[in-house]
Amino acid sequence: MSILVLNGPNLNLLGTRETHIYGAFTLEQLETDLRAAFPKLSLTFFQSNHEGALVDRLHQAHREEVSGIVLNPGAYTHTSVALRDAIAAIEPPVIEVHLSNVYAREEFRHQSLLAPVCRGQISGLGAKGYHLAVSFLQL
Ligand code: DQA
Repeated sequence: MSILVLNGPNLNLLGTRETHIYGAFTLEQLETDLRAAFPKLSLTFFQSNHEGALVDRLHQAHREEVSGIVLNPGAYTHTSVALRDAIAAIEPPVIEVHLSNVYAREEFRHQSLLAPVCRGQISGLGAKGYHLAVSFLQL
């Protein structure tokens, strides 16, 4: 079973970026921990700061018939019609994940343009949210 873990803008800065909100771990550590937790799964990781690159990666995952996608869209959560349309257009289920509880933060973070076309959403559980999303997708 193959699962794509897709991270959007600024998540490459984990470890140094607003650590009081996002935690002190790096994206690389998060990925290493996921691989260790799910040794039997084929996990692929991709991060981009560019909206179009994320859209392209979603299309590619569809063509490759991956079983599911864990997506932290970063700020594009709140702005991107292009990502929403891409998610709606593809077959694999997408779980939207946020490290922080976006509903406990600024009002502009309370709206996700993507959640309505995702299988589900996890917000505020830190790196555990990624683990729970992968767990769900492997069921
Ligand atoms: C985030 C929440 C977003 O609002 C923010 O723009 C991010 C990270 C999270 O993981 O909590 O970049 O997706």
